[in-house]
Amino acid sequence: MSMHVAVAVSGRGSNLEALLRALGPDAPARVVLVLSNRPDAPALEHAAATRIPSVVLQDPADSAEWLEALECHGADLIVLAGYLKLVPSNVIAPYRGRIINVHPALLPSFGGQGMYGRRVHEAVLASGARESGATVHLVDEVYDRGAILGQARVPVLPGDDPDRLAARVREVEHRLLPAAVLAAAAAGRPVPIHEPVESHQ
Ligand code: GRF
Repeated sequence: MSMHVAVAVSGRGSNLEALLRALGPDAPARVVLVLSNRPDAPALEHAAATRIPSVVLQDPADSAEWLEALECHGADLIVLAGYLKLVPSNVIAPYRGRIINVHPALLPSFGGQGMYGRRVHEAVLASGARESGATVHLVDEVYDRGAILGQARVPVLPGDDPDRLAARVREVEHRLLPAAVLAAAAAGRPVPIHEPVESHQ
């Protein structure tokens, strides 16, 4: 039986798209639901194009709304793919160990509240770090703090600006997140990922 995955989004949805591309019809995991806190998130278009049910949360802090949608679609795993709000603790408790997030830097550095999008890459460049990357980790009650399951590294190159660095990180995120979901499906729950995801750029 395939693992039923709910994906929460707030924006563009390139990670959702990458996940949908990676999970073919015979994959051991299937996206059964897309949750968004924003009705205008472009990510919802990927859900519609692939006929995946989506739910726009009226109040993202209302755990009852989350749980109703998750239970209705039999979600086994929640993937935060560019979801920018905190998941309510009454959702985390029943799904503890079964919620993962992808973050566009090498946690534990450059994470935490307010560290998202372009700001992350600006902070990496300002720090003088020689490398960045993507992290998939378990989600708990604190932003970007849960156990790290896997990371993919990319170099910071001379002349980088936040957009160029973001594009390089995005390329590895798009392989790291599907690898994490497939590993979770194989193990029945999220587990550390051992296969390295190398930068192709
Ligand atoms: C990604 O960089 C992800 O790491 C972060 O938010 C961004 C979402 O991008 N959590 P997208 O909506 O998947 O294109």
